[in-house]
Amino acid sequence: MRFILLLGVMCVLTPMFQTHLSNPTVSDLSLRNMDFAMNLYWKISSIHDRNIFFSPLSVSNSFAALLMASGGITHEEILTGLNLHLFINETQPLPNEPDLLPKLFQLLNENITQNGSRKLDQGMAMFLQSQYQVEKTFLDQIKEFFGAEIKNVDFADTANTTDFINTYIKKKTRDKIRDVISTLNPMTRLILINTIFFQGAWQMPFDPDFTRNAAFYIDSYSVVQTPMMWKLDKFYMMEDDQLQAKVLKLPYQEGFSMLILLPNKNVDYTVIDDEITASRFLRWIKQLQKIKLEVALPKFKLEQSYSLHSLLPEMGMTSVFSNTANLTKLSTNEGLMVSEVLHKAAIEVDEVGTTAAAATTVGITPYSLPYFFAVNRPFFFFIYHEDTNSILFMGRVTDPTEN
Ligand SMILES: *[C@@H]1O[C@H](CO)[C@@H](O)[C@H](O)[C@H]1NC(C)=O
Ligand SMILES: *[C@@H]1O[C@H](CO)[C@@H](O)[C@H](O)[C@H]1NC(C)=O
Ligand SMILES: *[C@@H]1O[C@H](CO)[C@@H](O)[C@H](O)[C@H]1NC(C)=O
Ligand SMILES: *[C@@H]1O[C@H](CO)[C@@H](O)[C@H](O)[C@H]1NC(C)=O
Repeated sequence: MRFILLLGVMCVLTPMFQTHLSNPTVSDLSLRNMDFAMNLYWKISSIHDRNIFFSPLSVSNSFAALLMASGGITHEEILTGLNLHLFINETQPLPNEPDLLPKLFQLLNENITQNGSRKLDQGMAMFLQSQYQVEKTFLDQIKEFFGAEIKNVDFADTANTTDFINTYIKKKTRDKIRDVISTLNPMTRLILINTIFFQGAWQMPFDPDFTRNAAFYIDSYSVVQTPMMWKLDKFYMMEDDQLQAKVLKLPYQEGFSMLILLPNKNVDYTVIDDEITASRFLRWIKQLQKIKLEVALPKFKLEQSYSLHSLLPEMGMTSVFSNTANLTKLSTNEGLMVSEVLHKAAIEVDEVGTTAAAATTVGITPYSLPYFFAVNRPFFFFIYHEDTNSILFMGRVTDPTEN
């Protein structure tokens, strides 16, 4: 009886996804990543009211790579910051496999990209001041687990190194991401850069002939005219009454989907901002129901960069950026710390799909429809991988005419 009671209390006290796992899987990892994604989103959205776009998965990957480079307190902080601390527990070591986490990340990335056959123009690279020697083991590991490279450069030669890094990233992302850095501090020792570009093809493309300029209500005072795509079809949607918002799913080909979260009319999006959580997200996708809808969605293009050095210390990752950093697995030379972790993500949302446009709308009478899902005010979106529930991208559009 006492045991059952205790168990009951423990269940109440244990937050979602925090239980210790004896044999973690790719799905467990993606749930942890989802919590991290939401935390990072809150950090970013607390800073400004503009558009937001980033790839939580890509940021998690970068820090998982730094995890392999680090020891001591730095390692602990990154584990905690990534929400993976209880996952791999010091006092209860998991299957004696030091590479367990990077291996799980590798499996997850392989699962999402189907071993590279799906294309996500993603790249990770580290740039290290030339005096520091890279440990061979680390070099091999980041190549094996993350397909990443580490390049020695001379940061004192700021002009050449800026050019070198930008050219390198441009080539890696097949011209999709340019000018990832504009200025460099000559005292830089180590920069980690990750970039990702997404342009998915819809399962049900929009017909470009129906795209028209229409109003998008940024707030009660400002309205912009923006190209709005239009489609009449069966879609998956749900209403979150508690949150006062609606959710719409727009499937891409190859197992990805975009989930749009649209606050109801007259509901301030900044209130909803704080309520976006992993458990809510999971509930939304479970409760979606197929329904005939008229959808209006703005075309948009976003390109956003984030300095994680200024965002992550507040999430507990401080030492990796300070002179107490323990990066002994990356280099045994003294005094190495991470100067910056840059993340840049870009997306283009337009009508494109590969099947013939408008073919699926045949037979649906437009004006008898009960619902019009008009994305004509600030909204949130998530692009996720359905098999693993991994959030590849997350964003907020407050003004679709801004990049
Ligand atoms: C750095 O971490 C390694 C391995 O975790 C540890 O052996 C070493 O003592 C740490 N170094 C410092 C300066 O804390
Ligand atoms: C990817 O390829 C590797 C090696 O060919 C294989 O071991 C692994 O199971 C594959 N992963 C997926 C998700 O297909
Ligand atoms: C510029 O930097 C790259 C990378 O460190 C190096 O290979 C190249 O020689 C440098 N060029 C000049 C002109 O210094
Ligand atoms: C990807 O992961 C999901 C969830 O764990 C699993 O059902 C699926 O079989 C995996 N796919 C591949 C190709 O490994």
